[in-house]
Amino acid sequence: MWAWTSRPPQQLAAWAALAKLAQRMGGPRGLDGEAEQAASAGEQPAERFRFERFSARLGPLFVDWSKQRVDARVHRALVNLATESGLEQAIADLLAGAPVNHTENRAALHSELRKPDNKCTAQVRETRRRFLDLAEDIRDGRHLGATGRRIETVLHIGIGGSHLGPELATEALSSFHDGPKVRFLASADGHAVSAALAGLSPETTLAVVVSKSFATQETRSNAEAVKSWLLERTCDSAAIAKHFVAVTANADAARAFGVAPPLCLPMWDWVGGRFSLWSAVGLPVAIAFGKGAFEQLLAGAHRVDEHFRKTPLEKNLPALLALLQVWNGNFLGAASHAVLPYDRRLRLLPSYLQQLEMESNGKSIRRDGENTATHTAPVLWGGEETNGQHAFHQMLHQGTRAFSADFIACAKPTHRLDDHHRWLLAHCLAQSRAMLEGDDAGEAHRRVPGGHPSTSILLDELTPHSLGALLALYEHKVFCAGVIWQINSFDQWGVELGKRLAESIHAALGSADLPASHAAEPLIGEIKRRS
Ligand code: F6P
Repeated sequence: MWAWTSRPPQQLAAWAALAKLAQRMGGPRGLDGEAEQAASAGEQPAERFRFERFSARLGPLFVDWSKQRVDARVHRALVNLATESGLEQAIADLLAGAPVNHTENRAALHSELRKPDNKCTAQVRETRRRFLDLAEDIRDGRHLGATGRRIETVLHIGIGGSHLGPELATEALSSFHDGPKVRFLASADGHAVSAALAGLSPETTLAVVVSKSFATQETRSNAEAVKSWLLERTCDSAAIAKHFVAVTANADAARAFGVAPPLCLPMWDWVGGRFSLWSAVGLPVAIAFGKGAFEQLLAGAHRVDEHFRKTPLEKNLPALLALLQVWNGNFLGAASHAVLPYDRRLRLLPSYLQQLEMESNGKSIRRDGENTATHTAPVLWGGEETNGQHAFHQMLHQGTRAFSADFIACAKPTHRLDDHHRWLLAHCLAQSRAMLEGDDAGEAHRRVPGGHPSTSILLDELTPHSLGALLALYEHKVFCAGVIWQINSFDQWGVELGKRLAESIHAALGSADLPASHAAEPLIGEIKRRS
């Protein structure tokens, strides 16, 4: 067992102090006595006072948590909680490669993948060289298809952590896309296979199968379907060796599938799927944008790793974001967290963060094997920019449930519709202000209670560098929250039961008779009668 404190979180002195502070917490206005004093003394507006204390720059990111329901006392108590939880030691252990994933006895060394060539291990450096060279060979037409034609489309086949990061990065950086087209095939739904293959020519398509285990049902079935599609059209089994790349920790299975050894790229057990964008899993991103852009993505993440490693807890941004999540969820009653990107290119961020946060911290057993007895990860959800305002924001402003939110926006767009961009940012700032302050004027049905905390993350502009920094910020936030809750953020045993049950249900759906063992699932019979 890997523990950083011997006492459960709710027995720590800072936990009790925070509970008291939460009881005394004022409403959205008058939240912060010091800020109010500064305002009434004419020194500066309360908002400005809070902004100066509760915001910070980190490389290409600017993080503003002045719209959180915190004041200096809460901030101090949260930092005390981190200290009592042993967070400083936990960060050092994570970055040093200690087996922090104690249920699988593994390290979680995604930060190693972002180190520059002269600082990372030979294994990481060599693999990085291999997949970035392959990306350049595909982009420049040195790696050709079996009939000598250039690769025009890369079809990424993978799911969960082997899909969400590459798809998010490809979409987010679309304005830099100058390589072959990239499509994604993830789901178990056959309609997704047809959609992914529509209009593609096998001669100019390269399939990249990304699966750490090379055993995930969806990925295996989709890879087989794409292989059949290729073989039916080329009638050449040797084509597999030219048109399939694998990224996996199970090289034997990939080779048995038919992937040529030089096109089989490694993953390691010390990189979790949802933390793996930075490895060869990012190959399609490197193919779409080139080696230089991929290196910038890594450099942005490394910038945050260095901040995370060196910065004291009271200023350590991933740690502070985690502490705010604990404050909102465990003390102020927020059971959900909305991720609201005010940039269309980041519209996949909520799905990506859903896996990162909910698969990592959706746990109820502590490292010592006991039940947590405190809430852990909130339900994370979200939706893109002003579209959401015309859909679900009504509930955010006047609904009955407490929540917290992250707003993510870019100061500079890549288009020239300046006034559009001013409107987009105006909406973003207006929503966070309305959520916190509300409006108690007018008839009851018009009132907006406010009091909903949010953090705003402003990227100077959306580039590979700033995207890398943003994702690393969230990765480390997730680890810190897991340390405070004393859970293992790096396993995901909860997903196994459903996978096991699906095996036998799949067999029952395919068998001529209805085995008695499936009497417990009557829908199987209903489906079989109708299909
Ligand atoms: O959903 C469970 C999970 O194991 C994720 O953690 C992982 O990212 C995904 O399945 C895909 O796994 P693999 O890369 O082994 O195909």
